[in-house]
Amino acid sequence: MTREILPADPSTPEIVSDPQAIRAAVVAARAAGRRVGFVPTMGALHAGHASLAARAGTECDDVVVSIFVNPTQFGAGEDFDRYPRRLADDCRLLGHEGVRWVFAPESRTIYPPGDATRILVDGPARRFEGLIRPGHFEGVATVVCRLFNAVPADVAYFGAKDWQQTVVVRRMVEDLGLPIGISICPTIREPDGLALSSRNAYLSPAERQQAVGLHESLLVAEQLWRNQEPVDSIEAAMRAAIEARQIRLDYAALVDPVSLEPLDVAGGPAVALVAGRLGSTRLIDNRLLAARG
Ligand code: PAJ
Repeated sequence: MTREILPADPSTPEIVSDPQAIRAAVVAARAAGRRVGFVPTMGALHAGHASLAARAGTECDDVVVSIFVNPTQFGAGEDFDRYPRRLADDCRLLGHEGVRWVFAPESRTIYPPGDATRILVDGPARRFEGLIRPGHFEGVATVVCRLFNAVPADVAYFGAKDWQQTVVVRRMVEDLGLPIGISICPTIREPDGLALSSRNAYLSPAERQQAVGLHESLLVAEQLWRNQEPVDSIEAAMRAAIEARQIRLDYAALVDPVSLEPLDVAGGPAVALVAGRLGSTRLIDNRLLAARG
């Protein structure tokens, strides 16, 4: 890797808002033989996002992080308006990871006035979050496709934290033949197991204590899975662990990690998916379970 043409002060990423400008910069970097990594985000960055940028930094010459609170993936009554926005803090954090460019577009350049195009992923996008948040994955797929156009990187990095999102993005990339690699990175957690999320900031101190119930339910699932328990009783135990913490359950399921359909091979591998609400805050989590004998 050729590091010598990185900016002299690696702690100040360049902020680019124009999609054509970031595209030209990425195309030029790749034409010069540099490997470019891309991390799409909605900002309010934490150590989970930082881990994606760090991973990209170890595998690529240049890293682009996008920060865009995407209106089309929020439903009516969801938290689009109150979603935390703090570009200056985010850029400082990304500077520590050696990120070269922060792509922070304005909404009208991502969704031109009068735009009429959306990307609809079927199959795995229909279940779980797709049922509870109608239109959510249409918004995610559309913006990710649009961002991939603006940032034609070698590889894009996503967190396993949003497992269904990784499945939907992979499906879209494969189905549309988009020329970009997809890399999935492990979930970063608080010491008690709660997955880091920009939405954790909404939790009251009491809710923060309860929130660990999601992770607890995943540990229960893993233990029972290893003990060869049947899927039905594992799902029941997951529900019980979540409800024991007074989290309002949305779902707790063990499914195929790629199709998100019920397991057709009892031995897996599987993914345990959970979602629930504390007050007005929705939290999701998951755990991959290795194939069992
Ligand atoms: P956002 O919620 O900001 O997340 C950006 C990326 O960070 C996603 O790939 C997400 O899975 C990852 N991430 C979040 N929390 C994480 C954690 N605790 N550990 C590891 N990775 C974590 O996901 C979105 O934004 C949007 O839907 C987006 C893809 C940017 C499209 O708008």
